[in-house]
Amino acid sequence: MDRSLHEQEGEVNIQNKINTIVTKKELAPTIKLFEVFAPLVARKAKPGQFIILRIGEKGERIPLTIADFDAQKGTITIIFQEVGKTTKLLGLLKEGDRISDFMGPLGNPTKIEKYGRVVCIGGGVGAASLPLKAKALGEAGNEVISIIGARTKELLILEEELQKTSDELYITTDDGSKGHHGFVTDILKKLIDERKNIDLVITVGPVIMMKAVANVTRPHNIRTMASLNPIMVDGTGMCGSCRVRVDGETKFTCVDGPEFDAHRIDFDHLMTRLQRYLTEEKLSLERAGMG
Ligand SMILES: Cc1cc2nc3c(=O)[nH]c(=O)nc-3n(C[C@H](O)[C@H](O)[C@H](O)COP(=O)(O)OP(=O)(O)OC[C@H]3O[C@@H](n4cnc5c(N)ncnc54)[C@H](O)[C@@H]3O)c2cc1C
Ligand code: FES
Repeated sequence: MDRSLHEQEGEVNIQNKINTIVTKKELAPTIKLFEVFAPLVARKAKPGQFIILRIGEKGERIPLTIADFDAQKGTITIIFQEVGKTTKLLGLLKEGDRISDFMGPLGNPTKIEKYGRVVCIGGGVGAASLPLKAKALGEAGNEVISIIGARTKELLILEEELQKTSDELYITTDDGSKGHHGFVTDILKKLIDERKNIDLVITVGPVIMMKAVANVTRPHNIRTMASLNPIMVDGTGMCGSCRVRVDGETKFTCVDGPEFDAHRIDFDHLMTRLQRYLTEEKLSLERAGMG
């Protein structure tokens, strides 16, 4: 009797903690890391998957990559850049605050196999998903080389984590404030020239960067996977918002992706679709007094 009461109390305590922010860190001026208590998501999460969250009952849904998970602690780590209304509101939350919906894990996990030599490339906040992927690929017996790039050194994230999970790490900045002065593709080209046998390239970040990476690897026939970031709403394949063109066919990123063969993706189509709601997004930010 006592025990079941105890168990019930434990259950109530867990329910009260669901979706609360356990840890909040600022990684860069506009980039934040949250560790969120979400045991059901943490139990099933795999590298490459994402969650969709809603801050409050009237909030919009936004997708964010699962940057890390701890099934024992029941936590999921998300890293986000404050770009518009929802990510800015999210950034205002504090440790102990609760996120009303935290749905996941969604999308197909990264295919982890022994490929040989793998190059993982992250641009800006796209680096969020790399340490988890690099770690899993390393554990599967691959040699993992990571390259991260950002506009300036203040926007570089997860350097330490990638040092630990990669055999080699290269850093690039557009302004030359840290590492190589230039783009991630400069390092990739150098690696391809120096070490002929690269078996797989994984890339995540701005669409323009992923397109450039695909253009570098295509002539060498190096298998390249890109993780796409279209606008998403339901995350279940029903609304159609996240449609992308792959090999001339329509695919839904939330259920068919988020990773696709980069040599077959119509990146220009994706870039056009990402611009679709710019006016509405700006208006929404202004109405929230944040524009
Ligand atoms: C599968 C997936 C995983 C993602 N993982 C992360 C992540 O780990 N960290 C992170 O910071 N962001 C991630 N994103 C992007 C994130 O969802 C958007 O930044 C967010 O929805 C913007 O919401 P907002 O209301 O703050 O801004 P909005 O007002 O909606 O948009 C503000 C600006 O951001 C641009 N934007 C909007 N949506 C996206 C998008 N999906 N991708 C790129 N730019 C966008 C708009 O064009 C606009 O310029 C991911 C997207 C997808 C599809
Ligand atoms: S987000 Fe609605 S179909 Fe993918």
